[in-house]
Amino acid sequence: MWFPNLEYLLLVLAATSSTLAHKEPKNAHEVEVQRALQAAAYHCAPAIESFTAGRKRAFAQRALAGGVPGYQHLFSSETYEDLVKQVDGGASSEGERHPDGSLMSCTPISDTHIQNNSCVLAPEVTEGPYYHTEGHPLRQNIAELQDGLLLLLDIGVIDVETCKPLPNVLVDVWQANATGSYSGHPVPHPHLVNEGPQIGGKRSGLLSAYPRTVHEETWLRGAWPTDRNGVAQFTTIFPGYYTGRATHVHTKVFPEWVPLQNGSFKAGRLSHVGQFFFEDGINLAIDNMHPYSENPIRDTRGRTRNWRDSLNIFEDSHGPEGKYNPIFKLEFLGGVIRQGLVGYITMGVNASATYDNFWKG
Ligand SMILES: *[C@@H]1O[C@H](CO)[C@@H](O)[C@H](O)[C@H]1NC(C)=O
Ligand SMILES: *[C@@H]1O[C@H](CO)[C@@H](O)[C@H](O)[C@H]1NC(C)=O
Ligand SMILES: *[C@@H]1O[C@H](CO)[C@@H](O)[C@H](O)[C@H]1NC(C)=O
Ligand SMILES: *[C@@H]1O[C@H](CO)[C@@H](O)[C@H](O)[C@H]1NC(C)=O
Repeated sequence: MWFPNLEYLLLVLAATSSTLAHKEPKNAHEVEVQRALQAAAYHCAPAIESFTAGRKRAFAQRALAGGVPGYQHLFSSETYEDLVKQVDGGASSEGERHPDGSLMSCTPISDTHIQNNSCVLAPEVTEGPYYHTEGHPLRQNIAELQDGLLLLLDIGVIDVETCKPLPNVLVDVWQANATGSYSGHPVPHPHLVNEGPQIGGKRSGLLSAYPRTVHEETWLRGAWPTDRNGVAQFTTIFPGYYTGRATHVHTKVFPEWVPLQNGSFKAGRLSHVGQFFFEDGINLAIDNMHPYSENPIRDTRGRTRNWRDSLNIFEDSHGPEGKYNPIFKLEFLGGVIRQGLVGYITMGVNASATYDNFWKG
């Protein structure tokens, strides 16, 4: 009951379409493997539900203890309980509405609407061209000096074989900055400066990947192990967009890794490669905020909507049967969007699997 329900806002904001891009079939074996894994994972649903609800409750408690200044202080029913009693002469009882209804109607409507389908195995999608196989720092705050809207990521990891949260697996994340650049890759290949986005086909909308030319940059990249509750939390900024791609955050999950002296890590076995997304309605609102409004392609190609994502990545991220939800569940951190957002998501991964990025596109 603590945070404004963003879904409600999105109803107002959204001009989203549920139309999905044409599906690229995988080979039959890949589809079968994925389908079997997902079927095996369905029984996790109740575990996922209480897992995410528990995290949201813990966050609300922290906020109440003064951790984050809050909307909830203004609008929680407790805050106004005494006032309502006074107005009603103490006659107000539970379930009874205050005659004018105004105070109670400010209370956010739904608190824990959990993504029930998130219990299925998170599908593997391409890691894309901007991963650095070495040098991602082990840290929770990946923002460095990048300007943008505060975004906290609350990423839960559940083992689809046991339905239990997976502690101590390394969650590696990387994303573009507010105007759509990846650290280390500021400019196109010299011979491709005038390249236009590909028209038609699988890669429609995409440019060739920018090469890594600034080797020391690490902003908006980092990895952190899940805690004993199976959750890795990060502080970052909301990502910006670039040509051909829906707004997204990349992730990898390593059950095995070794910390290095210099603060980064050596990756061992890889058990998940995925991408997380945001509702188009919220993307749309943030597009207008500085510095997102400075995106160099704002007035030309603009942001790619989720349903138009190139390489079918948004669609593929829902899994072959569309049962996995790769979209962050967002809540406001304060009373207004500029105070930042927290995004919750739960991945179902197979901790004993070893992936080789065979979906690399
Ligand atoms: C959640 O999903 C599972 C598996 O599909 C289903 O059995 C269950 O009824 C769903 N629960 C709710 C509350 O929708
Ligand atoms: C740390 O060491 C790794 C592996 O040698 C290297 O790739 C990375 O760039 C180093 N990072 C820093 C900050 O020196
Ligand atoms: C994003 O990174 C690019 C490349 O380093 C930089 O030119 C741009 O100013 C950054 N965007 C913001 C909002 O700082
Ligand atoms: C997890 O991966 C292991 C090893 O590849 C495999 O044997 C098992 O069937 C997988 N389980 C699920 C539920 O996907």
